[in-house]
Amino acid sequence: MKLKTRIQLLTTGLLVVVLLAAHIGIYFASDHLLVKTVTDRLDNQSEDILQALQKSDSGESTAQLIKASTPTNGMIRVISSDEKVLSIGTRLPELREVDPVYSENHQTAIRKTSIGRTASVFYPFIWGDGQVVTLEITESLVQEEETLGVLRGVLFVSALFILLPVVFGARLLARLITNPIGALITTMDDMERSGSFQTISQKSRTNDELSLLTRTFNRMIDRLEGNFSRQQQFVSDASHELKTPLTVINSYASVLSRWGKSDPSVRDEAIEAIHSETIRMQHLVKQLLDLAREDQQGALDLEQHNITQLSRQAVQRMQQITNDEMSVNGPELTVLIDAEKYQQLLFILLDNAVKYGEAPIIVSLEKNKSNIKLTVSDHGPGIDPAEWEHVFDRFFRVDKSRSRNKGGSGLGLALAYEIAKSHGGTIQVQANEPQGTKFIVDFPIEGIERRSETND
Ligand SMILES: Nc1ncnc2c1ncn2[C@@H]1O[C@H](COP(=O)(O)OP(=O)(O)O)[C@@H](O)[C@H]1O
Ligand SMILES: [Mg+2]
Repeated sequence: MKLKTRIQLLTTGLLVVVLLAAHIGIYFASDHLLVKTVTDRLDNQSEDILQALQKSDSGESTAQLIKASTPTNGMIRVISSDEKVLSIGTRLPELREVDPVYSENHQTAIRKTSIGRTASVFYPFIWGDGQVVTLEITESLVQEEETLGVLRGVLFVSALFILLPVVFGARLLARLITNPIGALITTMDDMERSGSFQTISQKSRTNDELSLLTRTFNRMIDRLEGNFSRQQQFVSDASHELKTPLTVINSYASVLSRWGKSDPSVRDEAIEAIHSETIRMQHLVKQLLDLAREDQQGALDLEQHNITQLSRQAVQRMQQITNDEMSVNGPELTVLIDAEKYQQLLFILLDNAVKYGEAPIIVSLEKNKSNIKLTVSDHGPGIDPAEWEHVFDRFFRVDKSRSRNKGGSGLGLALAYEIAKSHGGTIQVQANEPQGTKFIVDFPIEGIERRSETND
């Protein structure tokens, strides 16, 4: 069964039950009240008659008294202990057929007769000849039945008047709830069929859960779409990057096979080129893998490390490759950090400083109350501020050909960004004074500690 139908049936059903219970309650309470009024009245009446009967002396005056006291739509009877009618007064012949009942106690009774329901009261008293008899006063409940009939009609009509808006209200409610869900399902279906990302248009700006659901869905789709297109872009950029060295290797391999055997200088050049392109590819593939690993948000291997010493090690390693002047400034700092990732990040920054900057290259460390600040500055030509927001993008290079000549792939800073992020930190680029570039990495200590707690 559809949710819409279920909501509609449930709300309507519940209200019908409540309404029915209320109306039945009202009806029976009214019935009880009306009947009680009649029996109370009959009680009073019978007491009066009994008093009068006791005063009367002859049988004739008793019969007259009974006739005179007879209610217009009722009957008075005197019934002997063997249930015979000793005296009767009534204008309704149908009532004569009602079986006489002898009762030694005061009693009331509601009976069904051929003219409808009747109310009766019974009183024992001593008849003229000394025997104990029963005085019965019966009254037809026709008027009360009429009143109850009107009440039934009123209750029925009012039920209709209440139910009609309830049915429509339930439909409206069901639609209110199911329409956004329906839109969600339609959009998802469309997305599945067309293979494209789609959001749901939202007309009203309410703050209920359903609008929230729609907005969250839209946000999720937007994010998925963004991630998807970034992923596509990344794959196409990566393929493009890999294509260049492969083309170079391919053409040198042809050169080698054609002239390599006869011309040693061509052979050496080809081998050298193939070798350097292979190294470039290796480097590129390693960075791609590192990035993919960072994307998966692998757990950090957090331990207390002296980062000043880690920095010195990285600088020493770098200095084996270059003769540029480099130094590490700052106090000895021991903090919770993933040593390998930290050195990888620092190495990326040092590598850039060597490749695109100029000595002296200065690594400085600072520790504040809440964060550790790592700064790598060089004195090269610097990066145009217009490019600052792009330098951390994947495959971004300020000067593509220059970077390629230096073996760059444009993935270094993207990886540095991911490493900083995985530690809960940030990385930014600034101009160094008087010239050059400055990369500042901020690791919030609390962020790293929280990560170590969740890793445990
Ligand atoms: N210290 C620096 N001085 C000048 N330019 C830099 C510096 N560091 C990075 N860049 C620029 O930012 C680009 C992106 O750097 P990176 O992501 O490490 O890629 P690459 O593989 O080219 O080194 C580089 O191509 C370079 O143009
Ligand atoms: Mg680099």
